[in-house]
Amino acid sequence: MAHSIFPFVLLFCFTFCVQSHEQGYITAEVSNKGLDFVKDLLIEKAETSLVPLELPKIERTVKIPFVGRVQIVLSEITIESINVTSSTLKTGDSGIVIDVSGATANLSMNWRYSYSTWLLPIAVSDKGSATIQVEGLEIGLTLSLKTQQGSLKLSLLECGCYVNDISIKLDGGASWLYQGFVDVFEDKISAAVEDAVPKKLKESIVKLDSLLQSLPKEISMADYASLNATFIDDPESSEESLNFEINGLFSAKNEVTSSSHYHRLLRASSSCNKADNMVKISLHEDVLKSASSVYFEASRMHWVVDKVPDQSLLNTAGWRFIVPQLYKKYPNHDMNLNLSVSSPPIIEVEKHQIRATIPLDVVIDVLDVEEVIPVLCVSVVISTSVSAEISGKAVAGNIKLNDFTMSLRWSKIGDLHMRLIQTLMSTTLKSVVLPYINSKLGKGFQLPDFHGYELHDPRILCTDSWIVICSDVASVQ
Ligand SMILES: *[C@@H]1O[C@H](CO)[C@@H](O)[C@H](O)[C@H]1NC(C)=O
Ligand SMILES: *[C@@H]1O[C@H](CO)[C@@H](O)[C@H](O)[C@H]1NC(C)=O
Ligand SMILES: *[C@@H]1O[C@H](CO)[C@@H](O)[C@H](O)[C@H]1NC(C)=O
Ligand SMILES: *[C@@H]1O[C@H](CO)[C@@H](O)[C@H](O)[C@H]1NC(C)=O
Repeated sequence: MAHSIFPFVLLFCFTFCVQSHEQGYITAEVSNKGLDFVKDLLIEKAETSLVPLELPKIERTVKIPFVGRVQIVLSEITIESINVTSSTLKTGDSGIVIDVSGATANLSMNWRYSYSTWLLPIAVSDKGSATIQVEGLEIGLTLSLKTQQGSLKLSLLECGCYVNDISIKLDGGASWLYQGFVDVFEDKISAAVEDAVPKKLKESIVKLDSLLQSLPKEISMADYASLNATFIDDPESSEESLNFEINGLFSAKNEVTSSSHYHRLLRASSSCNKADNMVKISLHEDVLKSASSVYFEASRMHWVVDKVPDQSLLNTAGWRFIVPQLYKKYPNHDMNLNLSVSSPPIIEVEKHQIRATIPLDVVIDVLDVEEVIPVLCVSVVISTSVSAEISGKAVAGNIKLNDFTMSLRWSKIGDLHMRLIQTLMSTTLKSVVLPYINSKLGKGFQLPDFHGYELHDPRILCTDSWIVICSDVASVQ
């Protein structure tokens, strides 16, 4: 019996156990257009950081017709500049492949020779400088980008360099010297370049890797909240993009969140055309849920409203006909509304909109000469639609009331006509509470810039469970 069950257990495990890897709640897909942008940046950086590159001294004794044996020493051979004219970057199973074809390089060096012949037993010597031009320099790199302990790890798998053509121009020197150079030193210098460039590139990759490793795993979002920027799984590459996943959930500072109660659905494809934008960032609704729960726990969802467009609403006189006993007890007293969100808002991302259900306790305070007297508490559950938009460098939201339900929590002024209170509450929500929340949301949340680069021309859209931002990237102006 046990024997016959075993294959099924194995099969079961293959279908379910294998898939139980961790999930990221924020994903970024870098399109080929985005990868080209990164590649051009890296090459621009390499052109300046690889040079000046000094190559080892070359020393040879050369036999030159009619002259004899000449000792030639080349020193301070330095690659002064490299200019890349064409390059490609491809991602695939074997890694990230960067091909540079058709680069040129300029080198400078000093030369020195000495010889003696039977005619002239005294040593003859001369020295000078030279410039060398390398054409058709080809460089190929294969990089691997993996996730290691939550950070990106970049390593160089292969690196090759090939010099197609070299031309040497001596300043001064005898004419026979040119021939000696061409015959002997072209290959030597080419070989030195082919050896030195990959070595230097290897060093640069190590530096780039340590920069990636030093990226913070936690990004501070306020003095009490941070976003978990731990990378999950290895970056995944496809024909049209390189995809990254980070945990992306909010937590209170210095507090570990257990993400077990968040359930992520499959990533929805959205209508933003990947090829047109450098990057597509998807935020799962659980990111908003974790943010709302952290902000709630840090009791940031608490407001006292004492100014409204129609100030008569905040005076017992304005409520005279609805709650007569309030007016009787505190005639012509000013009031304020003490709003507190009573449990974390429920946020759901749907096609074209975000729905938020906000449970709110509204305490009505009467302002007496010396004290604030809470007289009434109504629990309201408001359901709203939030539309998110990106303007400039900020993500802003606008909230619209769909519906609300309410119930009386407690009252210090006796029984109330809930029907009348409902009308009053509706007016209060529309004219006080929502405009207040919108004024906060309208200011927006500033998008951070990243090492001098920021989103350029971003668009935002909502699909099932995901908020998607499609954007280009540009350096901060
Ligand atoms: C690099 O090559 C391009 C194209 O040949 C040329 O326009 C540019 O001036 C060159 N830059 C340098 C620094 O030589
Ligand atoms: C190399 O030198 C030549 C001639 O001096 C110059 O035209 C070219 O722009 C230089 N190339 C680079 C990459 O600096
Ligand atoms: C951040 O996310 C990683 C990966 O999901 C997780 O292992 C780690 O515990 C999280 N850290 C915090 C502080 O929540
Ligand atoms: C508002 O209500 C909360 C509890 O609901 C209370 O702790 C706070 O003191 C109140 N603030 C004012 C100004 O009434």
